[in-house]
Amino acid sequence: MVKICCIGAGYVGGPTMAVIALKCPSIQVVVVDISVSRITAWNSEQLPIYEPGLEDIVKQSRGKNLFFSTDVEKNVAEADIIFVSVNTPTKTQGLGAGRAADLTYWESAARMIADVSTSNKIVVEKSTVPVKTAEAIEKILSFNSKGINYQILSNPEFLAEGTAIQDLFNPDRVLIGGRETPDGQKAIQTLKGVYAHWVPEDRIITTNLWSAELSKLAANAFLAQRISSVNAMSALCEATGADVSQVSHAVGKDTRIGSKFLNASVGFGGSCFQKDILNLVYICECNGLPEVANYWKQVIKVNDYQKKRFVNRVVSSMFNTVSGKKIAILGFAFKKDTGDTRETPAIDVCKELLRDRARLSIYDPQVTVDQIQRDLSMDKFDWDHPVHLQPMSPGTVKKVSIVWDVYEAARDAHAICILTEWDEFKTLDYQRIFDNMQKPAFVFDGRNIVNVKKLREIGFIVYSIGKPL
Ligand code: NAD
Ligand code: UGA
Repeated sequence: MVKICCIGAGYVGGPTMAVIALKCPSIQVVVVDISVSRITAWNSEQLPIYEPGLEDIVKQSRGKNLFFSTDVEKNVAEADIIFVSVNTPTKTQGLGAGRAADLTYWESAARMIADVSTSNKIVVEKSTVPVKTAEAIEKILSFNSKGINYQILSNPEFLAEGTAIQDLFNPDRVLIGGRETPDGQKAIQTLKGVYAHWVPEDRIITTNLWSAELSKLAANAFLAQRISSVNAMSALCEATGADVSQVSHAVGKDTRIGSKFLNASVGFGGSCFQKDILNLVYICECNGLPEVANYWKQVIKVNDYQKKRFVNRVVSSMFNTVSGKKIAILGFAFKKDTGDTRETPAIDVCKELLRDRARLSIYDPQVTVDQIQRDLSMDKFDWDHPVHLQPMSPGTVKKVSIVWDVYEAARDAHAICILTEWDEFKTLDYQRIFDNMQKPAFVFDGRNIVNVKKLREIGFIVYSIGKPL
């Protein structure tokens, strides 16, 4: 039986390994992590992450050929293929702080592999890493090899949260990069054999290592760039009377452009777009390509501008002061169908409103009170560095209440800000909400999901992104 071990039981390691185990009953898959609480949760009824369809597939394989363990060293030693899916956050200190990827977790995983291995291994980069990371990993492993042969592969993950299981079952492509040597090619074929259990062969792309590493950063940069492009247009729409939904529809009908990923919003969030673009910018700068770096930097700048523009609109519409006014925040996760709040635009919007002395009442169906409190009291980029993941007592951030009932959040509020596109926000009883709010009652829809005409008929003053007032 082939044995796979995945280091890192997070949003990528957990779901990807659960799918491999389900699709490959002849392979034993063990997911390991240094976080005892995460592994305990993976072995419990309450999984550590919310992802539609995940619970079902974990339950089908757990205890058969899918295991979650904190015994990192033993499982690494026994594996034939080791996936490394640890976090690769933005550095917060030292050279490249605020831009470069922090590879501390990756390097410590590589050194541990070198320490405990007694047989040949294929080591797979699953985390998103700077191009050329495989070279560094190869050095760490080969200088400590004790005669063991290591083959490094780059197999970046393209799943999106909220649709992870669907994306893994039916990927647009699986990308595998390896050395162009006979041993490298053999390792590529071994990993291809795993995916071939369910992915059609023509969707499994093989490349050299650097193309695979760079393609992941490029794909995220292209996706984020589309959102910043449509968000930049949304500002122009507001200034001219055009409607951004109509513009995206018309533009997206061109088959060369395509209709997906053109929804204007309060800004993109998530753990990766910003981090990966900053990383790309840093790599360009290190390679003496400032013009290329500046081109991609602009994607982040427009995203920051969009969040700021949203808050400015809230404050200026409410007679230039939100001081002491209750504002209901509907949605805190960075997108619907996930409880993940990493780099969610809601953090920036809420912090700005708090700076303007608003009182916030936050409702999200999947995010815990603790998580929101932690997010609102942390510095930028600190969230992905485990030392900061200390539990906090609720109520730490003053002027914020977090509630589990959307109508409670909106009661006596002067305004509602919709920051996540949860489906339930489309069908709320807005008349009931309006009746219990201060007047004038404002709705600022950061996701363009409400029926503007209907809400205006009820009596709301509605502001949507990129739409005529
Ligand atoms: P995560 O923070 O959810 O999970 C990483 C896990 O690795 C954590 O549980 C941490 O405890 C563990 N870990 C860190 N160092 C370890 C070590 N030395 N030994 C054992 N465990 C260790 O992160 P994630 O969202 O799963 O992302 C992982 C990587 O995948 C990142 O590079 C990210 O850019 C990339 N990625 C993420 C997504 C996504 O949707 N989240 C999608 C594609 C790619
Ligand atoms: C993204 C990519 O889509 C994945 O392919 C990639 O694997 C992943 O990053 C990663 O490397 O981590 P994810 O961040 O989970 O996935 O979610 P997306 O659906 O891409 O959404 C990202 C952000 O963009 C969200 O805040 C979302 O609301 C926003 N968005 C998305 C828009 O504002 N408009 C759109 O049209 C689409």
